[in-house]
Amino acid sequence: MVQTDLMEYCKSKNIMLTAYSPFGSPGRPSELKRGEADPHKLLEDPVVADIAGKHRRSPAQVLLRYHVQQGIPVIPKSNKPHHILENTKIFDFSLTEEDMAALKGLDRGWKACILEEIKAHPYYPFE
Ligand SMILES: NC(=O)c1ccc[n+]([C@@H]2O[C@H](COP(=O)([O-])OP(=O)(O)OC[C@H]3O[C@@H](n4cnc5c(N)ncnc54)[C@H](OP(=O)(O)O)[C@@H]3O)[C@@H](O)[C@H]2O)c1
Repeated sequence: MVQTDLMEYCKSKNIMLTAYSPFGSPGRPSELKRGEADPHKLLEDPVVADIAGKHRRSPAQVLLRYHVQQGIPVIPKSNKPHHILENTKIFDFSLTEEDMAALKGLDRGWKACILEEIKAHPYYPFE
């Protein structure tokens, strides 16, 4: 989910946006996954793999770098020390404009919230 409109809105109001589930939340229970287009296999995506190979980084590092390079804090989750360490090593390389465009091209056009219940909230922002 690229959500350029949300990013631009937050920037215009000086609101700091945080990116959660940067790997598509692959450990989510299957009932919370939304079919084949669901991004839960983002870490295995061939576009991400190509960019990772080019920079000699892992797919996880590429996906995290994508956010921080746009000035967006990102909060991956892991319970494995080697993954946590790997996920911190994203400040010593840069993605090219071409890489960033390719990653943006993975957009599924989805909005942030998958919880139907909150759509009735008076301040639901994703219409
Ligand atoms: N505020 C909200 O509404 C909201 C909503 C959703 C999520 N969140 C927060 O966002 C954070 C992350 O979300 P998430 O857990 O849904 O999804 P995520 O960070 O996209 O994915 C976590 C999964 O990625 C794996 N992983 C982590 N680092 C890896 C690496 N370097 N290589 C390979 N696999 C790696 C983890 O497995 P291992 O443990 O095996 O490494 C785990 O299965 C959490 O803190 C969550 O609470 C907030």
